[in-house]
Parts: sequence; structure tokens; C-alpha cells
Amino acid sequence: MKIIMLGAPGAGKGTQAKKIAEKYKIPHISTGDIFRANIKEGTELGKKAKTYMDQGLLVPDELVVDLVVDRVKQDDCTNGYVLDGFPRTIPQAESLDAALEKIGEKIDYAINVEVPDENIVRRMSGRRACLGCGATYHIEHIPPKTEGICDTCGKELVLRDDDKPETVTKRLNVYHEQTQPLIDYYTDKKVLAEVDGTKDMAEVFSDIVKILGE
Ligand code: AP5
Ligand code: MG
Repeated sequence: MKIIMLGAPGAGKGTQAKKIAEKYKIPHISTGDIFRANIKEGTELGKKAKTYMDQGLLVPDELVVDLVVDRVKQDDCTNGYVLDGFPRTIPQAESLDAALEKIGEKIDYAINVEVPDENIVRRMSGRRACLGCGATYHIEHIPPKTEGICDTCGKELVLRDDDKPETVTKRLNVYHEQTQPLIDYYTDKKVLAEVDGTKDMAEVFSDIVKILGE
């Protein structure tokens, strides 16, 4: 099962992708997480990506496409995967399709998690991310057991640099300009499914399971 998660920043792509990965036993591939891990390790890729991410801009296609195309060819992806945060532009989607076509594969579902802009800024300012394992929390919706500390690995929880309100607004604009056109792209390919991302997390997940099957 090859799945793409679409949706605005903060729509809940990562939250739902983790649940999908667990239930269907397929890898969760988040380009945002890959970039954040590279930033933390101080790699060349991380240094380049950070200059764009901190401004709320997309990292250039050439830095992301090969990375994902190589990743989905790895052995753990033979039964499928859930892509979170990729593709984010039409050229990225076209490159992915071309690479898959070469190996006789295609995307099965593009799930659009729909959340209006008004809800997004509120969500993002409450999000806290773990510096250690990448787990996400929300100070109201999913608080950690101890404030500021990850339940899973015990490391510190932080507000992501790009979750500051002014950067969130910028990311939303970038989303509407560059990523939203993918909804039509995957509608044309007859793989688009929509879920209402304003429902609570468990309900959103059960709507997704209805689409993917038990
Ligand atoms: P990325 O990390 O992908 O960020 P994003 O798309 O902006 O998405 P987020 O991770 O912010 O949101 P999400 O939809 O995963 O929501 P979450 O589940 O955490 O990318 C970061 C940056 O990297 C980009 O801006 C770009 O610069 C670069 N980048 C990455 N991929 C790229 C690519 N392909 N090309 C170019 N550049 C790329 O949920 C958000 C919050 O809401 C959480 O606190 C959560 O707990 C809460 N929440 C979730 N669901 C619900 C619910 N149903 N009800 C209430 N609260 C909820
Ligand atoms: Mg995410």
C-alpha cells in the first residue's frame, strides 16, 4: 500500500501517518523529519535545508527528490510506505511518478487531511516536538506526562523554529501556492481521498481506515 499524506502545515499529516505506519506495518517517511535529523547532526544537507525551513520556504526540489526516490527503493518499502510531506510541488509529484513507473509501481492513495487556515495557527503554537526521538505533543490535546519532557525518550520538548506564528502564516501561503495544486493532480489520477482533519485524532484515523480498509 503506497500512500501519500497531503494537507496544510499542521493539518495532522504526521500524527495520522504514524498511526497508519503502525497499523499497516509500513515505513513512515517524513521529509520534514529527515531534514530535522540532518539539521541536528549538522550535515551539509541539514545546513542547506535549514536556511529555507526557518523562513517557512520549501527546500528546493533537487535537494529532496533523489532523497525520497532512493528511500522508497529500499527493502523495507516493498510492501508499501506512507509519505508525509512529500511530494509538495507538482515537479516533485511528477518526478516521483516517473521513478515509480520505471519500476512498475504507482501510488495507491493520496489522503488529503483538510483543515481550514484559522485552526492551523492555534494548533502549531501548541505543538511541542521532541529533540531526541521526534515524537510530537500538543500542550492541550496530547500533553506529555511531565511538562517539557518526552514520555518516550525523556529528552526535552521544544517549539519548532518554524512554528512561530509569523512563520506559520508564511508556510500557509507557500502551501496554497505550491502544494494545494497537488489535490487536482491526484484527483486526475483517481487516487485522491479526503478526510475532515478538524475532527479529533481518533475519528480522523477511523475515517482513514475506512478508506484504506481494515
Ligand atoms: P514538515 O515537517 O513536513 O512540516 P509541515 O508540512 O509544515 O507539516 P507539519 O509537520 O508542521 O504538520 P503535520 O501536518 O505533520 O501536523 P502534525 O501531525 O504535527 O516540513 C517542514 C519544512 O521542511 C517545510 O516547511 C519545508 O521547508 C521543508 N520540507 C519538508 N518536506 C519538503 C518537500 N517535500 N519539499 C520541500 N521542502 C520540504 O499536527 C500538528 C499539531 O496539531 C500537533 O501538535 C498535533 O498534536 C495536533 N493535532 C494533530 N491532529 C489533530 C487533531 N485532529 N485535533 C487536534 N489537534 C491535532
Ligand atoms: Mg509533520
